[in-house]
Amino acid sequence: MKLSIIGTGYVGLVTGACFAEVGHQVICVDSDAQKVALLQQGGIPIYEPGLEDLIPRNVQAGRLRFTTRTADGVEGSDVIFIAVPTPPLPDGSVDLSFIEKVAREIASAMTTYKIVVDKSTVPVKTGEKVAETIKRYGRNQVEFDVVSNPEFLREGFAVEDLMKPDRVVIGVRSPRPVAAMREVYAPFEAPMIVTDINSAELIKHASNSFLAMKISYINALSVICEATGANVQEVANGMGMDARIGRRFLEASLGFGGSCFPKDLSAFIKIAEEIGYDFRLLKEVQRINEEQMSRFVKKIKDTLWVLKDKRIGVLGLAFKQNTDDVRMSPAIELCRRLQAEGALLRVHDPQAMEKARAVLRDVTYVADMNEVAEGCDALVIATEWEAFKKLDLLRARNALSHPILFDGRNLFDVAEMERLGFIYKSIGR
Ligand code: UDX
Repeated sequence: MKLSIIGTGYVGLVTGACFAEVGHQVICVDSDAQKVALLQQGGIPIYEPGLEDLIPRNVQAGRLRFTTRTADGVEGSDVIFIAVPTPPLPDGSVDLSFIEKVAREIASAMTTYKIVVDKSTVPVKTGEKVAETIKRYGRNQVEFDVVSNPEFLREGFAVEDLMKPDRVVIGVRSPRPVAAMREVYAPFEAPMIVTDINSAELIKHASNSFLAMKISYINALSVICEATGANVQEVANGMGMDARIGRRFLEASLGFGGSCFPKDLSAFIKIAEEIGYDFRLLKEVQRINEEQMSRFVKKIKDTLWVLKDKRIGVLGLAFKQNTDDVRMSPAIELCRRLQAEGALLRVHDPQAMEKARAVLRDVTYVADMNEVAEGCDALVIATEWEAFKKLDLLRARNALSHPILFDGRNLFDVAEMERLGFIYKSIGR
């Protein structure tokens, strides 16, 4: 089919590349001319495993192209996906100005029947507003349908998650666009749920908030485990064997971050508030998450006492493994809190250092993870990169003034670290 994706960020670019990979004709639109030029030359503006193969291959095959003109995308396709940012506003509500702008641009470019699909994460009842906007700005009443098709892509695993989705959610106001949407997703062979637009929009916020709640639950349990000498990983293993609970997203940590969970939680709380429901459960999820970070900083202070002028090595700057994204990163937040105490930081991340430089200053960026510990008083693991499991621990122990390691992601084994002579502090163990 002929598809266009408006917005080539973490979601739009992966979606466009995967749609092309399975054989659709795809036009990706972005208002950022520099980004479009880079993509046209085969460059990849974000780190997302798999994109570096997918994009050049499909551009060369003539299935994927990039433009700055929305009209190009609209005229050249049957189904138009909106994948523009919906950033949080200071009060926690969602900034829908990009959605509204694109809806107007699509409307003014439409001359024949189109299916307009909202893939961006939006508050429930946004689909109706998009439909009203297209109707109002559309020329000579061209027919169209609006569809909600939320994405469930994890950064760092987005290609994998899209090529093999657990489910495809389609929200419609009439049955007309369903056949076309089934054709779009037929190559992915994934279960599809077809429901109304409001339910489809809610599935997204409800799912993300539930996942965040699951993480805050295990983080709350980690406090109880520390106080009772239990091991939170063992508890998670035992819980996860119950098919109704499942083992994934039960990794205790220094807290969750990223451009989705914090934003979606605040948005969902705000949405509930506006319809008269006080979503206290989700407010507690947020509180537990904030407390987890404070507890981790306190753990470091309790062990090192004065942090002023202490030299601390931090491994990890991205908000999670397999990404270069530092938006709302717990690792960056940790660095800021340590700096606020006067600590001097040496930091490393396999992918995120370039993006981190723009937001984290007055630290020493170290290219080799095994050199971070040089001259430090302690080492901290802040992001769950698999690569950190291969850290040369003996070299680190000898490089540190004292063998002290704080593990915010439970990457290492407690007994092994103690055998190596470390003062080893982790989460919930
Ligand atoms: C999330 C959802 O998983 C995805 O379905 C949705 O489309 C977008 O938001 P993402 O934010 O990319 O994806 O990352 P995710 O893998 O969910 O991790 C979010 C945060 O939780 C990260 O900071 C991660 O380190 C943390 N996390 C995750 C934990 O602390 N413990 C866990 O067990 C899992």
